[in-house]
Amino acid sequence: MTFRKDGELVLDALEGFAAGAQRRDGPVLEQPPLAQLSQDLDLVGLIRDGGLQGARLKRFLGEYLAASTKLGHPRYMAHQVAAPIPHSALAALIDGFTNNAMAIYEMGPAAAAVEAAVVAWMREKVGWAPTKGAGGGVLTHGGSLANLTALLAARARIAPRAWEEGSPADLVLVCSPASHYSIARAAGIMGLGQRAVRHAPADELGRMDHAKLSAFLTGLRDEGRTPLAVVALAGSTALGLYDPLREIAMVCRDHGVWLHVDGAHGASALVSVRLRGLLDGIELAQSVVWDAHKMLGSSTLCAAVLVADAQALDHAFSEEASYLFHDKDQPGFDSIHWTVECTKAALGLKVFFSVACEGEGAIASTIERQTDLAQAAAALLRDKPGIEVAALPQSNIVCFRLEGPDELQLELRRRLTRDGAFYISTAEALGKRWLRLALMSPATRIDDVDALVGELYRLRDEL
Ligand SMILES: Cc1ncc(COP(=O)(O)O)c(C=O)c1O
Repeated sequence: MTFRKDGELVLDALEGFAAGAQRRDGPVLEQPPLAQLSQDLDLVGLIRDGGLQGARLKRFLGEYLAASTKLGHPRYMAHQVAAPIPHSALAALIDGFTNNAMAIYEMGPAAAAVEAAVVAWMREKVGWAPTKGAGGGVLTHGGSLANLTALLAARARIAPRAWEEGSPADLVLVCSPASHYSIARAAGIMGLGQRAVRHAPADELGRMDHAKLSAFLTGLRDEGRTPLAVVALAGSTALGLYDPLREIAMVCRDHGVWLHVDGAHGASALVSVRLRGLLDGIELAQSVVWDAHKMLGSSTLCAAVLVADAQALDHAFSEEASYLFHDKDQPGFDSIHWTVECTKAALGLKVFFSVACEGEGAIASTIERQTDLAQAAAALLRDKPGIEVAALPQSNIVCFRLEGPDELQLELRRRLTRDGAFYISTAEALGKRWLRLALMSPATRIDDVDALVGELYRLRDEL
C-alpha cells in the first residue's frame, strides 16, 4: 500500500516537474553548493534513520527536483541527453522493479526478447537483415562501452590471439580528429596506447577526408603499422556533422580494413526517411554504435553495438565464468558473451517503450523538427552582428562564437550557467572554442535562441 501511495506521489511530482519545465517555470538549472544541498536533502539523517515515505518523501522530492536540471525546459540546450519520452521512464520503473539482470536468458526472458527485437529493428534501419532469433548486436550501458565493444570485435578479427597475448605492437586505430574521447579511451583500455590513435586527414569542417584516406592507410602500412579499424563519425560530438560514410567504406573495403561507424548521436536519423541519406553507405560498415538515450528519446541509458557479421561479437571477449557460461539447453539466448557488463539492466525496454508508445513516425518527426530548428538557429545567428557560426548544422547541434578570444566564450558560458536561465555547452573544434547548442528539448523555439543571443550580448557588455 505504501508503495502504491508513494508511487502516486512520485508520479505527481514528476508530472509537475515535466510540465513546469515546459511552461518555463523557474531556471533550467540551479546549483546550490554541494554541502548545502546535502543538508537540505537531509541525506545523512535519512541514511541513518530511514523514513523516506509519505510526507517525508514528498518534501524530499520537492527539494530533489528543484535541484535537478530540467532537460525538457525550452532553454535547455546543453548536452546530448534526451528529455525522455515519459513512457520510457515508466520502462525504467518496470526494469527497476523487476530487476531482471537479463544477460543470461533465464534471468530475464521477457527483457531478453525485447532486447532482441530492438536490436533486430535497429539492424533493419542500418540496412542489415535481422539475424535468426538473436545476435548481430547487443545493448550496452552507453556509447562509450559500445565503442569499446565494437573495437574489441574489430581487434579479434585482425589479431585473433590478442585476447591471450595482448594487443600486437603494430596495431593502430584510425579515426577522425573530431572523434569522441571514448575512442581514444578504448585504445587505452585495449592496451594500444594513445600513440596508436592516428587522426585521418580531415576537410575544413573536420569531417574525414575520404579522398586522402587511401594514401593515409598506405602510409601507415609503409610505416609497418596495421590499422585495426577506421572509425567514422555519424555525427560528430562537437559540430554534429556526418562523415561521408559510403566513400570511406569504399576505401576501407579496398584496404581490407574494418569500418566502425560511431553513430552514438546521429544514427537516430536512420528512422527519418528525409534524413537517412546523411548516413548513406552505413550498411557497408562492419560495426555501428547507436545511442537510444540521445535522439530516440529514451531514458538513460541505452546504446547498441551492431555488427554486420552476426558472429563478429562472439570473438570480442573470451572469458570463462563457470557459474554462468556453460552449455545448456535453453529456449532463448545469453548475451553475456558479447558485453563488458555482467549484470545488465533491461536496456531494451526503455527504447521499446519510446518507440512502441510514440510510434516511429512521431520520433522521426521530432528528430526532423530539432534538425530544422538547428538550421533556423544557425541562420538567425549568422545574421547577428559579431557572431560567427562554425558550420551549417546537419543535426540538432549548432556551434557559434562571439567575436573575441576562447576565454570570452568560456566566461560567457560560466555566467550563463551561474544564472541558470539558459543552459548551453561549449566545444573545441576547428582550432577554436565555440558556444554549443544541442537542441534536445522539443519545447525549444527559435525565439528561445533569439533570447539567448540577447542574454549573451548583455553578459558580454557587462564584462
Ligand atoms: C559521437 C559520440 N560517441 C560516443 C559518445 C559516448 O556515448 P555515452 O555518453 O553514451 O557513453 C558520445 C557522447 O556524447 C558521442 O557524441
